[in-house]
Amino acid sequence: MKVTPMGEDDVRIDPWGSAQSTDYGRIINQFGLTPFKGEDAPSPSKLHRRGIVFAHRDVEQVFEATRTGSPFGVLTGLMPSGQMHLGHSMVVEQVRWFQDLGGDVTIAVADLESQATRGVSLEKGRKVALEEYIAHYAALGLNPEKTNVYFQSTRPVVQRLGFQLGKRTNLSEFEAIYGFGGDTNLAHVQAPMVQVGDILHPQLDEFGGLRPIVVPVGVDQDPHLRLTRGLAAKTNWFNLREASSSGLLISLSIHDENAEVFGQLPNGRVDKEKVAQVFHSVVEAIEGLGFSDIISSPKQGHVHVPSATKRDKHGLRMALLSLERRLGGLGLLAPSSTYHHFAVGMTGDKMSSSQPKSTLFLRDDAATVEKKIKRAFSGGQSTVEEHRRLGGNPDVDVAYQYMMYFFEEDDTYLAELNASFRSGSLLAGEMKQLCIDRATVWMSELHEKRDETAHLVQEFLSQDSR
Ligand code: TRP
Repeated sequence: MKVTPMGEDDVRIDPWGSAQSTDYGRIINQFGLTPFKGEDAPSPSKLHRRGIVFAHRDVEQVFEATRTGSPFGVLTGLMPSGQMHLGHSMVVEQVRWFQDLGGDVTIAVADLESQATRGVSLEKGRKVALEEYIAHYAALGLNPEKTNVYFQSTRPVVQRLGFQLGKRTNLSEFEAIYGFGGDTNLAHVQAPMVQVGDILHPQLDEFGGLRPIVVPVGVDQDPHLRLTRGLAAKTNWFNLREASSSGLLISLSIHDENAEVFGQLPNGRVDKEKVAQVFHSVVEAIEGLGFSDIISSPKQGHVHVPSATKRDKHGLRMALLSLERRLGGLGLLAPSSTYHHFAVGMTGDKMSSSQPKSTLFLRDDAATVEKKIKRAFSGGQSTVEEHRRLGGNPDVDVAYQYMMYFFEEDDTYLAELNASFRSGSLLAGEMKQLCIDRATVWMSELHEKRDETAHLVQEFLSQDSR
C-alpha cells in the first residue's frame, strides 16, 4: 500500500481516542471510502434509508453474493468493557440485517485488546461480554444458530494469523495509519494485528472457507480495515488489473512463499517448465467462467482476458484465490466494510460510556430514560414564542435524532416530525415527550426480550469459547 504523509488539515482517525471527527464528507475523500447508496441495498433498513450507514468499501461483492446465492460472512467485534449503550446497538442492527440476507455471523470478543488497552482482565472481559453484550445481542434479535461468538484469547488461529501477516507491514506503516511514534506502547501494535486475524480468519477453510466477509463498524475502526485490506492484498499470489487495451490482465506476484511453486530457482534462474505449468493452471482456473478468449503469455508474464469487464473482476479474483489455495497459498480476499454515522450524545457532545449522561444504556430504567431525554440538548428556540416564529432545528435536536437513529421505524411519520419541528408547530418539549414515549416502549420491549433470550446466551458461543 502506498502511504502518503499526513497533511496539516487532514483528518486523523484514532480508534482508541474518544475524540471523533464527524466531518464525514472529508473522511470519505481522504480515506477513499465509497458513499453508500441506501437505494442500492436489498431491502434497506432504516439506517440505510436515512443515510446513517453512509460509506463502504467493496460492499458490492456481498450484494453480488446475495444475488447469486453464494455464501458470505459478517464479522464484527466488541470491546468487553463498560456498559452497552444505544450507540453499540447500531452495529448489531446491521449485523442482523446481513444475517437476514443470508450471511453467517462471527463476533470477536476483543478480550485481548480490552486487557491491553483498557486494563480489563480476561476473566472480567468474559463476564462483561456475556452478561452485558451477548445478552443484548440476543435480545436485539441475532439468531444463535447462525451466530458464532469467540474470544480472541481462546482462538489461537487469530493470533497466529496476525503474527504471520506481521511480516508484511512495519512501523512506518503503523506511523502513517495510526500516527504512532517512538513512545507508543506495543499493545497498540499487537491489538491491530490480532484484529487483522479476527477479520481474515473466517475465510480459512476450517472457518467456512473463501467467501466475501463484510465488517460493519463505526468509522473509527477504518484504520484497522485499511491495514487488513492492505495486508490481504500483499499476500496474494496473483494480480488482477485492467489492461491498457481492453479487458483484464492476470500476472504473478512473486514472493518468498511462492517462489518455488512459481519456478524461481535459488540461483536466480527460472524454471520455464514450472512457469508454463502455473500459467496453464491459471487458464484452467478461469476457463469455466465463460470468456470467449483467454490469451496466455508466460513470456510477457501475464494472462490477458480481453472480453472481461470490471464486473467480471470479482469472479476472476475468487477463481484465482481458490487456485492460490490449491497451490499452497492463503488465498485471502480483502474484506468489505460498511460505516455508520455516530449518533450525537445526549448532552450535544460525543456519546461515551464514561459519560453516563451522554447516552442511554440498554439497562436504563424508564425513570432514567425519561430524565435523560428531558435534559437532553434541544434544537428548539429558547421561548415558545420564538420557536413558533423561527422554528427549531431537528438536525441538532437530540430527541428527534434519537427517534431517527433508534426508535422510529416509520419514515413518513419521521418526515412529518421533522417538518413540523422545523416550522415551529411542534415544540421542543413535545418532541421530547414523543421521544420519551417511544424510548420507553423500545426499552421495555428490549428488557422483556432480554429475559426471554437469556437462556440462549451460551448457544452463541463457539466450541472453543465454551
Ligand atoms: N477494536 C474494536 C473496538 O474497539 C473491537 C474489535 C476487535 C473489532 N476485533 C474486531 C471490530 C474485528 C471489528 C472487527 O471496538
